[in-house]
Amino acid sequence: MFSRLKKIFFKPTKLPDHIAVIMDGNGRWAKKRFLPRIAGHSKGTEAAEKIVKYCFKYHIKTLTLFTFSTENWQRPDEEVDGLLNLFEESIVKSRASLIKNNIAIRFIGDKKLFSEELQRKLQELEKTCSKNNGLDLNIALNYGGRSEIVRAANTFYQKVGKLITESELTNHLDTAGMPEVDLLIRTGGEKRVSNFLLWQIAYAELFFTNVLWPDFSEEHFVEALQWFQKTNRKFGKLMDDLNA
Ligand code: IPE
Ligand code: IPE
Ligand code: MG
Repeated sequence: MFSRLKKIFFKPTKLPDHIAVIMDGNGRWAKKRFLPRIAGHSKGTEAAEKIVKYCFKYHIKTLTLFTFSTENWQRPDEEVDGLLNLFEESIVKSRASLIKNNIAIRFIGDKKLFSEELQRKLQELEKTCSKNNGLDLNIALNYGGRSEIVRAANTFYQKVGKLITESELTNHLDTAGMPEVDLLIRTGGEKRVSNFLLWQIAYAELFFTNVLWPDFSEEHFVEALQWFQKTNRKFGKLMDDLNA
């Protein structure tokens, strides 16, 4: 396996710039162990910390993690509260390591629904880490692709009051300034995008795995990268044009 790995990783131009992950399967992971769902989310947080390390190791510049969707509010209050608590805790806990590891963190999604105190904490952390250039880490929180596109279009309309172009829309998204998604990974076995980064995944390669998110390991990450390296990205062109 390692000689194959080596050969593939000698193609640095074929590494994705931006990986986005739908971290699904926490609930099922817990259920299999007769644990409460929140135990799965807690274990999922550990897997999220690990994938950040893999991105460093394999020289990925941008990572976006789907943490809480605009639709996830429809879950029972107990689970929503548990998720938000877990999230707040992990922000506090990760602060030192974000700084130490040179990570620029950004929270994408509609933050207006969160308490002012939490919004302030998020902003403060973003600001503290804004000069870091080791890895761009986006945490999608109260995030929905449709909501993001509508917010971007409305912001533009309020500012400029004219018809919007594709590049202007791109520049008003929460991900403004970031590369488009090259590789989307979804764990947990479902083959759907669940309203995640709808605009940014227009030409992403989609990697689906049955592995439940808390079990996602370096081996699975490497498998996704290897799979990505074998794809022929054409962007609507013919292969001849790309090789010219
Ligand atoms: C994904 O895991 C995490 C969130 C949506 C917050 P799930 O909680 O959706 O896990 P399953 O799909 O029920 O197993
Ligand atoms: C997507 O997972 C949202 C996150 C991973 C945060 P869901 O479990 O909410 O997606 P559906 O409901 O299966 O489409
Ligand atoms: Mg799910």
